[in-house]
Order: sequence, then C-alpha cells, then structure tokens
Amino acid sequence: MTESSSAAADSAAGSLPANRGRWSSRFAFILAATGSAVGLGNIWKFPYVTGENGGGAFVLVYLMCIAAVGLPIMMAEVMIGRRGGRSPVNSMRLITERDRLNPAWRLIGVMGVLTAFIILSFYSVIGGWAISYVGVTASGGLAGQSSEGIGEIFSGLLADPGTLMLWHTVFMAMVVLVVARGVRAGLERAVKILMPALFVLLVMVVGYAMTTGHFSEGVAFLFEPNFANLSTSGVLVALGHAFFTLSLGMAIMMAYGSYLPKNVSIAKTAISVSVMDTVVALLAGLAIFPIVFANGLEPGAGPGLIFQTLPLAFGQMPMGSFFGALFFILLVFAAWTSGISLLEPLVEWLEEQKGMNRTISSVVAGVACWALGIASVLSLNLWSDFAPLGSFAMFEGKTIFDLLDFLTANILLPLGGLLVAIFVGWFLSRQALENELSMSARGFALWHNVLRYFTPVAVAVVFIYNLT
Ligand code: TRP
Repeated sequence: MTESSSAAADSAAGSLPANRGRWSSRFAFILAATGSAVGLGNIWKFPYVTGENGGGAFVLVYLMCIAAVGLPIMMAEVMIGRRGGRSPVNSMRLITERDRLNPAWRLIGVMGVLTAFIILSFYSVIGGWAISYVGVTASGGLAGQSSEGIGEIFSGLLADPGTLMLWHTVFMAMVVLVVARGVRAGLERAVKILMPALFVLLVMVVGYAMTTGHFSEGVAFLFEPNFANLSTSGVLVALGHAFFTLSLGMAIMMAYGSYLPKNVSIAKTAISVSVMDTVVALLAGLAIFPIVFANGLEPGAGPGLIFQTLPLAFGQMPMGSFFGALFFILLVFAAWTSGISLLEPLVEWLEEQKGMNRTISSVVAGVACWALGIASVLSLNLWSDFAPLGSFAMFEGKTIFDLLDFLTANILLPLGGLLVAIFVGWFLSRQALENELSMSARGFALWHNVLRYFTPVAVAVVFIYNLT
C-alpha cells in the first residue's frame, strides 16, 4: 500500500542505507504488508477455490499451510530483507557476497519479478470485474433480482470483451499511476481508513448471511472436514493459495522487510499479518457460503462465485445498492493496494537494470502487463474453448487465464518459497539468524527446524505428487 510503495520507490531509486528505516513503527509495516496480502486472494479467490475443492478438508489443509509453511517463509523473507537492507535482488547479492555463497541464489529475485508480472496481468482483469460491479450495484440493477438474473448479469459481463477490456485498462492505469508517482499522503491516509472499513462491511455481510437461515450449513461447509472431498491436486491448490494470499514467494516481503526497524520482532509481526489475512478470508467464506446454500447455488461455481452470491445479498438488504457499491469500492481498494505491490518489482528492476526513470519504467511495465492481460480477457469469451496445453492431463480444459493462475500460484510461488526456505534454513549461519530474529531459544529452534525440514519436504512432496 502507500507507505510500502513509497518505501519501495525509495529503494528503486537506490537510496542509501542511511535514508532507510522508513517504517515509523511496527504498525506501519503491518499495515503495508497487510495491504499487499489482503486483496482479491482473500475475498475472490479463497471462497471459490474452497468451493471447488469441497470445503472443510481444504480449509483445514489451507490453515495448516499458512501456519506451517507460509508463516515460517514470511519470517525468512522479512529477515533477508532486513539483513540486506536493500531491494530484494541487491539484498540477496549482498548476503551471498558477505557469506561467500553462490551468486545464483539471486535468481530468487529474478523469478519473483517474472511471477509478479504474470500474476498482475490476470489480477487486473479481476480487479476490473470488481470496478464494473461498483456501477452495477450503485445503479440499483441488483435490487430484487433472482439468482438467475444475477447469474445473467455476470455471464453477460464475461461474454463482453469490450467491457472487460475497459475495466482491465482502468485498473491497470490506477496501479501505474500510484507506482509512477510514488505515493501521496492522501492515499496513504485513505488506505488506513479503507482497510478497516472493508473489514466492517464484510462483518455486515456475515450478519446478513446469518439471517438467511442457512448459516450453519455454511459454517459446516467451511469447518467440517470431509477428506473424501479433497484430492491431491486440492492439496496443491491449498499450498499455492497460502503463498498467494500472504504475498509470498516473490520477494515482496523482502522488500518490505528492508524498511523494518531493527528492534521490531519479526515473528510477532509476521504472525499479525498472517492472522489478519486469514481472518479476512474466513469472514469472506462465512459471508458467501450461507448465501450459496440459501439460494441453491453451486459452491464450485468457480471464479465468478462472489460475483454471483454477494450481489444477491445486496439485492435483498435494505439500502443494498448503497452498501453493495460501498463493498465493491472497498474491494477495488484492497485489490489496488495488492496490485501496486505486484507492479513494483518489475518497475524497480527496469530502473536498476535498464536505467529508465520511474515514470517511464512504470508505464512500460504497466503496458506490457496490460497486453498480457488481454489474453486473460479473451480466454473468458472468444478463446474460452482454447486450452493451449490441454493435451497434458494436468492442464486439461485450462484456458490461458486458468494456466497463468495455475502456473504462478501453484508452481512459481511455492518454488520461490521453497528456495527461500532452503537458502535461509541451510545456507545462512545460525548465529546471524539468531541475531536478526532475537526470539526465545525455543521459538527460534521451532522456526529453524520447521524451515529446514518440514517446509521444504512438504512443498516438495506436494509438488511431486502432482507431477506424477
Ligand atoms: N496477496 C494478494 C491477494 O491475496 C495478491 C498479491 C499481492 C500477491 N502481492 C503478491 C501474491 C505477491 C503473490 C505474491 O490478493
């Protein structure tokens, strides 16, 4: 979010260590990291992947992935950033030089830039759906609609490449604008209000969901594990989503960590961010599934799930057009703050490596990402039957949009996280880690062992199962 991207802007401009330490407090860092973490992943993606993967058992595995894989890796990323004190690629360079390690570890940074670029290309398309729903809700178009009517509004949007392109373009332009200018105090202050506001509105929708008479069914769907409903590919999706939702695996948390004051506890901070992110996702699930069951909708409806359920709730609530529009505005903001953190690495790289100035590199990166996004737009309509790698069983029926999502969330992010875990767990000296983390001996031992043994093995096993 704001502070984070201005911080990232500074690092991109190559500011000296003396100018660093920008987070005024632990709270500022938490806010920035949460702004990156809480986004479409929590409100759009979590409910739909949960629905597609059968509910409770998936949620349980997802929570385990957050705690046993995501949290230790977040701590490792923040730690590298704070120790290196520079942009991710340079922090990695500094640490590898200082400790005489193989410079190839820097590839973690390069992979991160590529991954972020691909994610943003389709993220922006979904951000565009959210923008378009601000208008749909505000105009009162949802009032009293049946679930069929609401389904038609959504499929109408997907079938219309022109409208999708328009809002995709608007979303990307919003992201480019903020990244290019650095961040202004106004937006920064706004975000401090908007994130809590999103939380309050989400709680309101959960309140509405309680009145549908199907709340307990929703709760059971989310929290009663039935492992018969979970496939091995579901485990991969849970793992991948844990990385996606915490913004891990592509050095974002390294960039943020480089601004964290030395006396702040990395463990406590990472726990706060992970808990807040998880709470938002679970609230979104509690808001959505009761509405799904009350209206006889399909939990496995896929990426359109929230756009077919929440509008129903807003269509029936008193002042629903107002609250609905407000909700989608806040969703756009949540997506915006995440989108900024996704464009930043490429912009930083273009500045460092290609010597472009900040405005030009932002525009170049944004336009390139926008262009790739066109493929996602078209795969929702004109190319919806085009499955480029469909002859592989693993990719059967996957459109370009599905493939980009799969490749990034389920392969590149876990791979990036795996490399971070191995690097920090096995190549950095224990002494250095202890100094940087300054935790209790038991806490440190727990973290270090999980990162060395459990995390890499878990990620590797899930990978291998899915490739064979
Ligand atoms: N975490 C964000 C979300 O849940 C998306 C995101 C932002 C992200 N930055 C990231 C995902 C970096 C992976 C890596 O919407």
